Amino acid sequence: MPDEAAKRPGRPLDERNPPMLKILKQLARSVREYKKPSILTMIFIVGEVIIECIIPFIVANLTNDINDGCGIDVIAKNGLILVIMAVLSLTCGGLAGFTAAKASAGFAKNLRHDLFFRIQTYSFSNIDRFSSSSLVTRLTTDVANVQMSYMMIIRIAIRAPLMFLFAIIMAYRMAGVLATMFVVVVPVLIAGLIGVARHAMPAFRRVFRKYDRLNESVEENVMAMRVVKGFAREQYEKDKFNAASDDIRVDFTKAERIVALTGPLMQVCLYFNMVFVLLFGSKLVITQHYINVGQLSAMLTYGFQILISLMMISLIYVTLTMSAESARRIDEVLTEESALKNPAEPVRELKDGSIRFENVEFSYSKRAENATLSGIDLDVPSGSTVGILGITGAGKTSLVQLIPRLYDVTGGCVTVGGVDVRDYDLNTLRDGVAMVLQKNLLFSGTINENLRWGDPGATQEEISEACRLAQAEDFILSFPDGYETQIDQGGTNVSGGQRQRLCIARALLKKPKILILDDSTSAVDTRTDALIREGFRKYIPETTKIIIAQRVASVMDADMIVLLDHGRITAVGTHDELMKNNAAYRETYEQQNRGSNAAASAAGETVSECVNETADETASVDRTVNDSPAASSEGKEADDNA
Ligand SMILES: Nc1ncnc2c1ncn2[C@@H]1O[C@H](COP(=O)(O)OP(=O)(O)OP(=O)(O)O)[C@@H](O)[C@H]1O
Ligand SMILES: [Mg+2]
Repeated sequence: MPDEAAKRPGRPLDERNPPMLKILKQLARSVREYKKPSILTMIFIVGEVIIECIIPFIVANLTNDINDGCGIDVIAKNGLILVIMAVLSLTCGGLAGFTAAKASAGFAKNLRHDLFFRIQTYSFSNIDRFSSSSLVTRLTTDVANVQMSYMMIIRIAIRAPLMFLFAIIMAYRMAGVLATMFVVVVPVLIAGLIGVARHAMPAFRRVFRKYDRLNESVEENVMAMRVVKGFAREQYEKDKFNAASDDIRVDFTKAERIVALTGPLMQVCLYFNMVFVLLFGSKLVITQHYINVGQLSAMLTYGFQILISLMMISLIYVTLTMSAESARRIDEVLTEESALKNPAEPVRELKDGSIRFENVEFSYSKRAENATLSGIDLDVPSGSTVGILGITGAGKTSLVQLIPRLYDVTGGCVTVGGVDVRDYDLNTLRDGVAMVLQKNLLFSGTINENLRWGDPGATQEEISEACRLAQAEDFILSFPDGYETQIDQGGTNVSGGQRQRLCIARALLKKPKILILDDSTSAVDTRTDALIREGFRKYIPETTKIIIAQRVASVMDADMIVLLDHGRITAVGTHDELMKNNAAYRETYEQQNRGSNAAASAAGETVSECVNETADETASVDRTVNDSPAASSEGKEADDNA
């Protein structure tokens, strides 16, 4: 079943290519309550077209009547009918515009809603596959494109073919012979328009793809503005932007130049039509009396209507193909299946904070050659403290992400409280497991609002308690507005260490059974780091604590220290055991310790200065267990901002 295969989350996006009809069906589901205004629009349009096609008929009759020397009463009567017709046509047109606006804006609203809700169900691996900026583009620009097309479909796509058909029928009824000239003009025009659309479309498609890239680059730059400024890369970014922007200009000019050809083409056909009708028509009127003057004038109008409707059809063709790309991109988001599913009968209670890894294998992508984690066996009793050490890229983050089921294992199983994580209700599991991510984020709003993400119903006393535990209360109270201090988007107006402590407090407010700190005190000085751990031991003894750290000192008092290397556990033990049995651990500890002692005695300065030295020293020596620069806070912040 190729369709099922296309839906599988593991399949790369560019390989999915569902037929257009299927995509349209998927998008049509978002019309919902706006079906009524959509149908009303079509009805009004039909009314408008019928009236517009009857008007020339009446005018023709009136012209003939005048020609035959009719009385003023006939003129007045026909005049009145014409006025009524015009008013009706105007009303229909106006109402159609009104309902079409309502329908298309509503459809776009539903589409955005559906996309947003779909994205909320995504797991981390789904989000890995689309980039976040591409999701933003799909939710904004692509929806706007589809909205415009929808408006066109319900208004013009009905109007143009209908008008074409009516005008042809009326023209034949009125003057069969003369109408045969459409057999010549129409195919010429159609061939011309198809040629234009064929050439313009690829150019437009290129433009739209480049727009995406431009959007992504702008978004990325705005988000990473601090990094750009930090590296003084403004000129480079400006040049990059200008190049991308100019690229679009070139393609757009090319596309528009081709589309502009439709104008002259239309004019030629129109004048040809006029000359033909007048030349042969007048001959028919004068010499053969086959038609009369009224019919002749009506034929001119019908010719005009036929050509205009063809022109509109070509315009729709171009617009629709332009937004077909957008429709496809929206469909991709809507049909992406979440990689994580709640089980049919989920477990809704998390007994305790014990964790077991049983022969766990894990990789981010099915196509990866080497598994990110393999052969992981680990038993963590509830309430214990586990430290995880390892060089960058060893798989520390990957390992702990499996506990709140941010990703699913590819082999073996992870159990929490004695139950496989895949059997839990996702909310139950994630309420019980609080994880402070390595790339932590705060949201725009006050400190209080940010902390309440952990527990919306928390009292001020509970919030203060969590902040005291995370060593955050002092600096919060030093702000003039205290807990009501406004945080900028991403938390850029607090320091790296302050942000980390706020994130820890936010996690603590969840009162989790398992607390995971992924390198969450890297930007905090060692003394505060020690105070935080001390608080954990005293005040949340039943909570299982998993601490990933760069400094051995951060985990040496843990009940169990896990050394990770290339996705495998190389040693497990307490600090004393590892000091005795593991050369790499011993060496790292001694190097880091020597570093801090040397720094402290050499300077004999204040505690905080000594701590900074320690961090720097650590950076240069901890190659054995941990070869990352000991998370200099700037580096981390740059990461976060990026
Ligand atoms: N989202 C992802 N998609 C694909 N590969 C990833 C992803 N995240 C991490 N990896 C890869 O998985 C491996 C392990 O990464 P992981 O983040 O677990 O390392 P880590 O031990 O936490 O490192 P660090 O100390 O730098 O945080 C790395 O080789 C990395 O490139
Ligand atoms: Mg990590």
